Amino acid sequence: MKWVLTGGAGFIGANLAKRLKEAGETCVVTDNFHRPGARLNREFLEKHCGITVQYLDIRFADQVNAFFEANADVDVVVHLAGQVSFVASIEDPRYDFDTNALGTFNVLEALRRFAPGARVVYSSTNKVYGDLTGLRCEETATRYVLPDYPNGLPESLPIELHGGYSCSKGTADIYMRDYRAMYGLKTVSLRQSSIYGGNQYATEDQGWVAYFVQMGVQNSPYRISGTGKQVRDLLHIDDLCACFRRIAELPEDSAAWGQAFNMGGGAGSSLSLLELFEKLRTRYGFTMTYTAGPPRLADQKVFIADTTKARQMLGWKQQVSVDEGLDEMVQWSRAQWKR
Ligand SMILES: NC(=O)c1ccc[n+]([C@@H]2O[C@H](COP(=O)([O-])OP(=O)(O)OC[C@H]3O[C@@H](n4cnc5c(N)ncnc54)[C@H](O)[C@@H]3O)[C@@H](O)[C@H]2O)c1
Repeated sequence: MKWVLTGGAGFIGANLAKRLKEAGETCVVTDNFHRPGARLNREFLEKHCGITVQYLDIRFADQVNAFFEANADVDVVVHLAGQVSFVASIEDPRYDFDTNALGTFNVLEALRRFAPGARVVYSSTNKVYGDLTGLRCEETATRYVLPDYPNGLPESLPIELHGGYSCSKGTADIYMRDYRAMYGLKTVSLRQSSIYGGNQYATEDQGWVAYFVQMGVQNSPYRISGTGKQVRDLLHIDDLCACFRRIAELPEDSAAWGQAFNMGGGAGSSLSLLELFEKLRTRYGFTMTYTAGPPRLADQKVFIADTTKARQMLGWKQQVSVDEGLDEMVQWSRAQWKR
């Protein structure tokens, strides 16, 4: 199979490219190196996997068309290129829109023209459901809880776009599904929760597990927004890559095409910030010293994915426990950041 990854020098892309290479697949990796960590992952892919990352900026239709015209024999596109920070989307909404909304539209249009038979997986986000302030929320000593959703949040929640990142990713998510309905493209949107693992160059405002692990490894004090009781479900990168491969193998007439799936670790793999800090203290001996500021704009208090639909329709199942995943994350982070 021939795979194309957009945004392939990012965290998810670099991990997927490495696994595809190890499995003997043909993989064309592209990126515009907007994110600083992308250059480090480009070096990693060149050095350890023999993969050269091609420059492609999805904001520009002529570049995207030329690329897919030259790669019209692609079997699977994993569309990962994105502006990934909610905070950055408020500061620079145009880059966010141009990359996430227009860039995704450019990819879909190029595929419609040059590779209409390809399978297309889009890394969407749980932020398409907005800030979820309408849901009943309770509070324990360490976390917020949604008592009406003990098994997590399903895809039947209304789409509620609010704030740059949410609007631009949500627009792309809707286009993905609509290009199935209008043009028959084989698209799937994965509404991802928190994905974590090695090769994740996190920042204060994106990639929270990797960021706090880095703070622990470096013994650096850090800031958090809000009480620390915010909860997310964690999915290790191995499990997400396995899901991409399941989608690549779906039959031509699968009912999954044109669908969106909530994709995360589920209720059993959820942690609040406070719970993560405690785990990092007890399991790895980190100090974890922080100060708390006001809550982040439009932050969901809880997002836990109900992955029933993905398990049933994609035949996918999470395999990596939070402890196993964190061991891998900490090992990579120590190799990267320990002074
Ligand atoms: N990591 C998560 O927990 C998570 C959660 C939900 C959704 N997602 C989505 O998954 C995708 C991949 O995320 P990631 O964690 O690997 O982030 P990442 O920032 O590591 O990777 C995104 C890549 O896209 C590239 N990029 C940015 N603008 C571009 C442009 N205009 N043209 C081409 N490339 C461009 C960046 O340089 C970067 O390498 C993103 O679309 C993100 O929104 C990630």
